[in-house]
Formats: sequence, structure tokens, C-alpha cells
Amino acid sequence: NQDSQGETHPPLVFNAKTAELISQHQVEINQSFPKEGWVEEDPKEILQSVCECMERTSEKLIQLNINISNVKAIGVTNQRETTVVWDKETGEPLYNAIVWLDLRTQSTVEKLIKKTPGKNKNHLKDKTGLPISTYFSALKLRWLMDNIESVAEAVQTNRAVFGTVDSWLIWCLTGGKNGGVHCTDVTNASRTMLFNIHTMQWDPELCKYFDVPIEILPEVRSSSEIYGYMVCNEYCLGDQSAALVGQMCFKDGQAKNTYGTGCFMLKNTGVKPVMSDHGLLTTVAYKLGRDQPVYYALEGSVAIAGAVVRWLKENLGIIKSSSDIEKLAATAGTSYGCYFVPAFSGLYAPYWEPSARGIICGLTQFTNSSHLAFAALEAVCFQTREVLDAMNQDSGVPLSQLQVDGGMTANKLLMQLQADILCIPVGIPSMSETTALGAAMAAGAAEGVCVWTINPDGMTSVTSEKYQPKINPDGESSDQFFVPNNLELWLHLHKLTIP
Ligand code: G3P
Repeated sequence: NQDSQGETHPPLVFNAKTAELISQHQVEINQSFPKEGWVEEDPKEILQSVCECMERTSEKLIQLNINISNVKAIGVTNQRETTVVWDKETGEPLYNAIVWLDLRTQSTVEKLIKKTPGKNKNHLKDKTGLPISTYFSALKLRWLMDNIESVAEAVQTNRAVFGTVDSWLIWCLTGGKNGGVHCTDVTNASRTMLFNIHTMQWDPELCKYFDVPIEILPEVRSSSEIYGYMVCNEYCLGDQSAALVGQMCFKDGQAKNTYGTGCFMLKNTGVKPVMSDHGLLTTVAYKLGRDQPVYYALEGSVAIAGAVVRWLKENLGIIKSSSDIEKLAATAGTSYGCYFVPAFSGLYAPYWEPSARGIICGLTQFTNSSHLAFAALEAVCFQTREVLDAMNQDSGVPLSQLQVDGGMTANKLLMQLQADILCIPVGIPSMSETTALGAAMAAGAAEGVCVWTINPDGMTSVTSEKYQPKINPDGESSDQFFVPNNLELWLHLHKLTIP
């Protein structure tokens, strides 16, 4: 899971009876940017970070006099779409993981869209719920097969296997080349563009369309069942689905927004997939057991949220650590008319425009780093507003409160701005590690060890902090300290980033 501090891989141990967090350890992993628009991670570093975290977490349990044999089940939650191909005979990754944000397939996406009848980016949406975009795994996998010789060769000799990060980790942790389980769950599969979200199977036509051999794909399982018994038991959910479960959004109409690298608003739409008319994705929310029904969600994906803070830190150096942004932005209390559109990786929902790029404008002699910091936080909130508007338009029933989670929710200024800009209250759950909690719930439910089993009618997350909007829909503020920019102007500028 990632927060505004960087890419981290924290195992967390929960009490199966109370859901109390007992022990955790986090390690930050590196991302590399070998070319403009490219984003990669080392699959071995991801694995090592998980192993290191498990060791440290176990040590902490021992210090608490808890025998690690009491850990009954392991749930996995992961950044989705990120693509790994490895050799099942040597156990070695054949290239770095291509991260979900990566833009290297932009020209392929443009070519594919041009070839569809009516140049329609939603050509595959009926089956997949997704527009043709650089975001999803199929194009990354195709790129690897076309550009990396060892991948092409391993595919031809039947040694290559593909997976998102969950598959890679589960395969390694259940034995790797000595019989590791090659599987994924329905939530991760639904982000590949090769998966039919109605039949819940890999789709031969989609595989043919992207020229991907179906044999290299993992077996698709539910999000809550026993996958393997090698080193330990595991259950998995894509990170955004896990957060939906961790926030207890089990009822039709309940929604959450998770602020990580990007931010992702998911609204549970029940057992029927709802197709968006306003640029949202239709995705698998969860399937909590082999015989359980599939639940779907509408998703508004925003590519850049915490990543803009990282950019201010690493590329501009105006803050030393990510958490400094709150103090810096608060010293200004306004962006002083400066607007920041961080379309670094194109624009995701609701535009799906890979060629969009970021802008900063409205600068004067007076503008300084604090205004820029404020404008960056505002950009996160404005993007969320745009996704919320799309969701409200799709459902016809406006959301009355938004549950939020993720690293950036510790930023009080951001949360107040978010409530002001959405004009609805924003609630933070008392258990803020909702992504890990959701994965633990899926694991605990499958293993039958949780007393807090998943009961769609009986649970709601406990909100510990609530931010009420201090600005009314006409833009009048009762609090003069934080002054958000003009939403309409920002949205206009946002659209201008599309060439
Ligand atoms: O779809 C991408 C998402 O799963 C990654 O989340 O934590 O990197 O913002 P994160």
C-alpha cells in the first residue's frame, strides 16, 4: 500500500476478535523512472520488503509475549494493475514491475482507440468495465512481450507467468519455483482488461485482442478463500477493494475515498455491475468466498494525489518530508490565485486522456512555496470533487458523507479543504489502516477465525473524526483562514491540460 510518504509495504497484525491492531512494521521501497513517463519497481525488492516486514512484525509480537503460531491467516492487499512477468522455472522476474501509473503504452493506446469503430475508448467497456488506457495491465504485458527479449522467449518456451503484485507475492510465499500457487483474486483480475466482469473468467476474445496467451495468466479465485498452505495461508484483495471492505462499505450506495499515490473513490453498487455514463470505471468490489456473490463498485480513479506531495519534496525540494506540506500550506492559508493541475500521468477519471500534462498557473511576483503547496493540496480535493460529481450524476442520489482513509488523511488542512470543496462532511474511521484491515477481514473470514465476520447488515465503520464543510455551495466561507480557489476555474484549467 502507498501513502503520501512513498511506496510502503506494511504487514499489520490484527486481533481476530476485536479487530484491534496489535503489531506492524513498514518499509519504504524505491521507484525508478528510467524514462519520462516510465515508472518501475523491483519485484525482488517488493518481496524482500514484505519478508523483512514480516520478520520485524514477528519480533514485535514476541516482545508482546504473543506466539507467532497464533497468526492464523495472512491476507494480501496490493497496488492493482502493476505488472510482473517472471520465469516459473528459475523463479526470477524477467523485468522490473511496470507500475500502474506508467505511461509507456500511450502511443499503443492511441493506435488501438483509432482502430475501434467510432474511435471509441470505451470499445471494451461492456466486458471489462474499463476504457482502453495505459492504466490497466494488458497493455503493460503486451509491451513486455514486444520489447523484452527474455519475456518473449519465456512466453514461447512456456516458462513465463504473469501476475499483478498479489500473484507475485503469493507465488513466492507459497513456494515459488518449488510449487508456488499462481493465482489472483477477482478484484485484481478485473483491472487487467483481460477479465470478463460478468462471467468472472479470463476472456478468450480479450486475450486475442491483446494477443496474450491465456496460459500465462493466474487462476482467478474469490477474495476470501484458502489459496495455499506452503509457508502460510493467504487471501487477497486489490488495495482499493480492501479499503472498501475495511471501511465496511457493504451496502449498495456506500462509498470511500483512499488517498495514496493517487486517490480512488469506490462506491458499492451491489451485485449488479453498473456502467457509468460519466467516465467512471465498473470494477469488481469483492467476492468474499467461493460460493458468495460478486459485489461490484463504480470507481473514480485519480492518478495523482500523494504523488504530488512527493513531487514537491523530491523534484522541487520545497519540503523535507511529506508531512511538512500541511504546515507550509497553512502559513499561506490560500493559494493566492495559483492553480496546480498535476496531470503528470495523463488524466484518469472522468477523462481517460493519456496525453494530458500538468500545469501550474496564476503565478505573480508574490507567489511563494506556501501558495504552491496550498494549490497542490487543493488539486487533490478538486480532482476528488470531479469524481464525486460524476458519481452523483451516475446514481442520481448525491452522497451525503464521504468516508476517507489513507496516508494523506492525517493532513487536517487537506481534510478540511476536502469537506469545503465537496460541500459534504468527510469522515475518517477510528481504524485508519482500512486497506490492511480489509485484507485481514477477508483472511479471517475465510479461515473462520474472526468473530467480526463480514455481515453486510451488522457493521458500519466507526468514524473518529469528522470534518464539516465550512463553505456553502455558493462558495461563501464561514472560515476565512483557508480560502479555496474557484472550483469552476480549476475544472476549466484541468480540461485545458488535454491537448
Ligand atoms: O490502481 C492503483 C492503486 O491500486 C494503487 O494505489 O496505493 O499506489 O495509490 P496506491
